[in-house]
Amino acid sequence: MRFVQVATGGCRSYLIGCDATCAAALIDPEISQVDRYLALAAREGLRIRFVIDTHTHADHFSATRQLARQLGVPTVMHRASPAPFVDMRVDDGEYIGVGQLRLQVLHTPGHTGDSICLVCEDRLFSGDTLLIGGTGRTDLPGGDPQALHDSLFKRLLRLDPSLCVHPAHEYKGRSHSTLADELERNPRLQTHDRAEFVAMMRSLDLPKPALLTEALRTNMSGGKTLAQMLAEASASVPFLAPEELRSRVAAGDPDLIVLDVRERDAYEAGHVPGARLLPRGQLELRVDEELPDPTRRIVVCCESGRVSILAASTLRCMGFQRSVALGGGIRDWRDSGCPMSVGSAP
Ligand SMILES: [Fe+2]
Repeated sequence: MRFVQVATGGCRSYLIGCDATCAAALIDPEISQVDRYLALAAREGLRIRFVIDTHTHADHFSATRQLARQLGVPTVMHRASPAPFVDMRVDDGEYIGVGQLRLQVLHTPGHTGDSICLVCEDRLFSGDTLLIGGTGRTDLPGGDPQALHDSLFKRLLRLDPSLCVHPAHEYKGRSHSTLADELERNPRLQTHDRAEFVAMMRSLDLPKPALLTEALRTNMSGGKTLAQMLAEASASVPFLAPEELRSRVAAGDPDLIVLDVRERDAYEAGHVPGARLLPRGQLELRVDEELPDPTRRIVVCCESGRVSILAASTLRCMGFQRSVALGGGIRDWRDSGCPMSVGSAP
């Protein structure tokens, strides 16, 4: 078996491949590492055939949908997954054939209702059901400590103790453990009593993941993250650097329109000299009266340089083909000592 582990912060993804056929599966890919997975598969001489999520992630962004589309391969999840884009829904007792490898599916609800673990030869991909020295939490949507207890004590911990455990999260840099190690040392597995386990899980009082809503929104529905929206918009929008805009403003370039898309109070506190005010929220509605000549070069400004990318992209979509964004926003303009005007719009 070919095996590559990819760490992204506390997230772990796994690329496993069949030596005989070069077919591979990618387990729990993370959105920021898409190019890395593809490069690793190429380096290993593997062809990814399946992209698998062990459950609906609530703390990071899954890359399964994007990779599945890019590669023309199926997304695999448990049948209870709410994600509408899952191509192959699997259930307990089934296996996924990856070349000559068999990925055996265990339904292990508890961390989420759609959690699965996968066993392949001497390895257990334990998702967030079993972590090294811990377990997945049960206080997020779909969590159920009683179900987790049953999944651990009636399923996972009865497997071969020599299995290598590869979880979906690991925060201390350890690459793996074994079921025997976990049985012996994992503090959450030391009491078999269900009521005690449930009480312990309910008393954890963990902070909510920072990106909970965005992660659930995108992982459950296939909606886009802010980073994806910005990346797509950036692909159609060039930038103008503050120094370049400064010299063009100073020269009184008659072709140029500087369009500030922040709210009025931010604009009045300081803006590029001569900039017009058109807040992002009103852009589509007021664009014809504010920008009657679609052939002009429009430099869109916002505070940090992100909203202006979205706004310039929208303007290009609407036919203002020379819309660009001020690189780094008003923040960089201000920080690089460029002149500011204050007060209301001209
Ligand atoms: Fe999770």
